[in-house]
Amino acid sequence: MTVTTISDLSGHVGQEVELHGWVYNRRSSGKIQFLIIRDGTGIAQTVVSEKEVGPAAFAACDELTQESSLVIRGLVREDKRAPGGYELTVTGLEVVRVAEDYPITHKEHGVEFLMDKRHLWIRTPRQVAILRIRAEVIRAMEDYLHEQGFTRVDAPILTPSACEGTTTLFETTYFETKAYLSQSGQLYNEATAAALGKVYCYGPTFRAEKSKTRRHLIEFWMLEPEAAFFTYEDNIRLQEGMVSYVVARVLERNRKELEVIGRDVTPLTKVTAPFPRITYDEALERLRAAGRDIPWGEDFGAPDETIISEQFDRPVFVTHFPAKIKAFYMQPDPARQEVVLAADLLASEGYGEIIGGSQRIDDLDLLERRLREERLPAEAYQWYLDLRRYGSVPHSGFGIGIERTVAWICGLEHVRETIPFARLLNRLTP
Ligand code: 4AD
Ligand code: MG
Repeated sequence: MTVTTISDLSGHVGQEVELHGWVYNRRSSGKIQFLIIRDGTGIAQTVVSEKEVGPAAFAACDELTQESSLVIRGLVREDKRAPGGYELTVTGLEVVRVAEDYPITHKEHGVEFLMDKRHLWIRTPRQVAILRIRAEVIRAMEDYLHEQGFTRVDAPILTPSACEGTTTLFETTYFETKAYLSQSGQLYNEATAAALGKVYCYGPTFRAEKSKTRRHLIEFWMLEPEAAFFTYEDNIRLQEGMVSYVVARVLERNRKELEVIGRDVTPLTKVTAPFPRITYDEALERLRAAGRDIPWGEDFGAPDETIISEQFDRPVFVTHFPAKIKAFYMQPDPARQEVVLAADLLASEGYGEIIGGSQRIDDLDLLERRLREERLPAEAYQWYLDLRRYGSVPHSGFGIGIERTVAWICGLEHVRETIPFARLLNRLTP
């Protein structure tokens, strides 16, 4: 007997197979039971009759509650009307465990309830589809970077200093001293880029941000490429190349999942490089025209990003931000010192920022000055300053937030569904 999965039923038409799964739903019509089974790869209808399985197994079906686990065998038939297109005529089944009353039924539930039951909610087809797309997005990013000659070199999680400003640091203790959970692997990437040339790190990052928006997580995953002898322009090309590649990969490999989620894929098909670019100054003008008067030198909020990104049919770069609203390490524009050679990539359809990146300061004196201006403790950054002392070169990089990217590609309302167990302002469980 071949053990297979629901996603592979198409290759077994006319054969008898064994599936391992859970009861998703059950209907009975006297002499016949319809068991809808899920196994993590899909959903399939199975038909159980007393004649085929015998009275004991048939009676056992009556006990099968939603999410009961079972091993089920049967003959695979093609059936256009069945969910997934294949049906199993059951020849035998064994109940593994009968489940208690399952809290998530097939009716509507509120989001907070579902988040409380996240450990169970992730079993539903929609959540499975989102998590599969998340996995594909990460793989596609890594594949793209490997093709471009990048090597994965990971950064530490426990760190002695800030990368993205001290206000959102997550503090912890490290024996007798203080430590912080990493906000970004970038500073370490800059060291490894000087060692290997083109690198990226991938891992969890933490921001103790008191933001309760649809795009903020306290713990999120970021992929961060960094390369030596890499300019601001090289950096932008890498970003648009990678993002368009990732979207194309999901369109190619995750059609089924996008369908389960109900994603209209038309806007995604337009995501091809090059992406449009506007400067911060142009963005301010566009916002002013839309009735939002932001003084020069102030940062955009999420609603501003939404307004800008809705004006384009593909992701848009906003470039040349005022230095004072960006991180200390960003290279000022030689032609205009008050702005930096940085770009944020705003995803289309109103999704807003998914990437932050820049060319880095490679001059020691300037970097020391910027640290002083930002009142950052010089001692903690001595190792980082060493990178400017020993063979400093122009270098650039960026960070792409996995959850925001997945929320955009899947067309979701909130990032909480893009990560298995979201850490939010008001949520640390499950
Ligand atoms: O713009 P950010 O803060 O940039 C950095 O951390 C740089 N050091 C990265 C680098 O150049 N290597 O963050 C980068 C991205 C954002 O564009 C966003 O997608 C995501 O990380 N991000 C968040 N995602 C979810 N919740 C949050 N609180 C996030 N903060 C940033
Ligand atoms: Mg940013």
